[in-house]
This record gives sequence, structure tokens and C-alpha cells, in this order.
Amino acid sequence: MRKPLIAGNWKMNHNQLATRAWCRRFRDIAREDGRPPAADVELAIAPPFTSIPAFLAETGEEEISTGAQNLHQESSGAFTGELSAGMLVELPVDFVILGHSERRHVFGESDERISLKVAAARENQLLPYLCVGETEDERDSGRMEPTIEKQLQAGLSRISLGSADDLVIAYEPVWAIGTGRTATREQAQEAHGFLREILASICSSEIARGVRILYGGSVKANNAGDLAAMPDVDGFLVGGASLDAGSFLSIARAWSGND
Ligand code: PGA
Repeated sequence: MRKPLIAGNWKMNHNQLATRAWCRRFRDIAREDGRPPAADVELAIAPPFTSIPAFLAETGEEEISTGAQNLHQESSGAFTGELSAGMLVELPVDFVILGHSERRHVFGESDERISLKVAAARENQLLPYLCVGETEDERDSGRMEPTIEKQLQAGLSRISLGSADDLVIAYEPVWAIGTGRTATREQAQEAHGFLREILASICSSEIARGVRILYGGSVKANNAGDLAAMPDVDGFLVGGASLDAGSFLSIARAWSGND
């Protein structure tokens, strides 16, 4: 019932030239395989802002959706260097990654600010991918659950969900992002099951059952199948391994054996 979603977060990688090369490779692989790249999963990529037009020009909406990696919560004003949800919608993009660990830890974004951004996305019909995740210290001191519960509660505090299609959650343990240390499938399932319970208490069990919860943190083609087998893991948010179209598609195809 929850269609697997494999999303790539390119971070500050791939200029326009590299974006066009990625798209060509993506199409070539699909052609060689003789089947559409997204037969049984949904695919999504968040390029850097300046590469979004090139990505849109090279890909079809039906095969892959396009997103942004950030937005500013206000609709306009004196915010040098920032972009509003309305500007992103004009491109157009379908979704926006919010609360990513790098925004929280490198750029100091608070839960309060993230909740404003989630609200701005929803007001503009942009699908928020709300990221939550604990640091290594928080996990080691037994605070994984309260940490991600607080991030989820705060992130959703300014919106109400009309349906399960209004939100994607990404569980991304900070210690697993870009480190090569993936969470075990048991650790991922434990966190995802917990997030779904919290979500049910925030909205309704029906909506919580339908919202997709992605795992992110050093996902590669060789560990994707293992994680994909877990009942509450509904897809991946992939950083490094999404930069290569071949490895991104291999991760997407890890789902085939788990339908
Ligand atoms: P990674 O990044 O796959 O390179 O660990 C994941 C992310 O930051 O979303």
C-alpha cells in the first residue's frame, strides 16, 4: 500500500553539466534494461538549486520527481541569498527536504525554524520530506527515542495533515550520514516503527499507516536490499550513492525482491 520511494539528495554536488550527464546515464541504463526505471518504485532527486532547471529539462515528471534541498519560511523580503517556497513552486519542484542533519548541525537550524519551513512548504503545496535523527551521543546515552520524537512533534506542530500524501519522513541517524556506517536493519525498523506510533498520536492511525518513512545514512546498493525487507522502511534518502545514476538505480532495484 505504501509505494517505495527512493530519493536522492545531491547536496552541493553536480553543476548543470554534471546534471545533464547524470540524466543521460539514467536514461541509457533504463534503455539497456528494457524497462522503465520506476516500474514499481517512485524516484525523486533533489539537485542543487542552480541545477534544477537542467534536471527538469532532461527528465519527465512521470519517471522521476524533482525537489529542493531547502527553502526560507517567509514568502518574500530582505533575506539575502534565500529562496521562498513560492519561488520553488515556480520552477516547478514537487518536494523539499527540510530538517536535514546538515541544516540542523552545520547551519544551526532549530526545531522552531524547521516547523516554520514545513508550514511554508505545505501552504505552497510542496511536499515536505521532514528529516529527523539522533547523534551518536544521543544514541549511546539511550536518548534516540526522545530526540526523534521531539524533532517530529516540533516539525509538525504548525501543520495538520489531510492525508498520508502530505508528508514524507526521513529517519537519518547523524552518525550514519556520509560515514559508511549504516544502521542495522533492526535499528532502522525500531526507529521507523517508533516514528509511526508517534505520528499516529499526532494525526490518526490511518494517516500514520500511509505516510512513507525513508531511511537515510550510507545507503548503498549492497545494503539496500537488507534494509528494504523491514516492514516500516518505505524507501531511502540517499546522499553519496545517488550522485551516480547507476548506483542510484541499483538501490531502487533492491526493492524488486521485497514487494
Ligand atoms: P549519505 O547521505 O547517503 O551520503 O550517507 C544521506 C543524507 O544526507 O541524506
